[in-house]
Amino acid sequence: MSYTILLVAHIAVLGYWLGSDLCINSEYRFITHRPDIDFAARDAMTDHLMDVDQHVRYALILQLTLGAMLASHLAYLPPQWFWAMPVVGAAWIALVEVAHRQRRSATGERLAQIDRWVRYAIALALLLAAFGAFDTMPLWLRIKLGLFAALIGCGVIIRFFLMRHFRIWAEMREQGPGPERETIIRTTYRQATMVLLALWTCVAAMVLLAIFKPI
Ligand code: HEM
Repeated sequence: MSYTILLVAHIAVLGYWLGSDLCINSEYRFITHRPDIDFAARDAMTDHLMDVDQHVRYALILQLTLGAMLASHLAYLPPQWFWAMPVVGAAWIALVEVAHRQRRSATGERLAQIDRWVRYAIALALLLAAFGAFDTMPLWLRIKLGLFAALIGCGVIIRFFLMRHFRIWAEMREQGPGPERETIIRTTYRQATMVLLALWTCVAAMVLLAIFKPI
């Protein structure tokens, strides 16, 4: 597979990721800041939000897969990685997809938990690579991998904020929304958005490192 095609795909996924994140955050803000709208409509939008949220999950996996394939092509990683990574990426996307589709069942919760453990393991592996597990890697790429581990961490923290949001949201569905609960979900939105900004600061730094390769 040509290096140029992989590089173009790697850059295109960056746009896909940013676009998805902007839409998700905008819809999330709308849901949490419009208590004047009928709760059933906000509830339906929340369900839709979770569907759209899948796109950033795909983007993260695609970016890691394509990045590792590029790195293998440039001999920064062993050659076997070039073919192994698409298999790993496809399996991870399948896990994320089934966890999403089964999200209302105990199996879905279990799969989401497994996905979180996969993220911890990958963040750890990326940190090991950042601290020199592969001496073939230039420093700019190792820093990039360290930033990717931080980015995965930010994603997991956002997931925990969303869990709090859904806990309060379930109470709102059962007992009705009140000013106190509306305040909690708005505060949760603000906190999650702060972490999202930190995540995008990592992405911006990764882009600059990849383009300028200063070290
Ligand atoms: C959020 C995640 C990432 C973003 C936003 C990102 C962004 C970019 C961009 C914009 C380029 C193009 C630079 C250019 O040629 O002008 C690039 C190249 C590259 N990226 Fe990534 N990347 C990410 C993750 C990764 C990961 C996880 C790896 C490795 C496992 C990786 C490895 C590479 C490699 C090897 C190149 C090619 C550099 C070269 O041509 O010498 N990237 N990346």
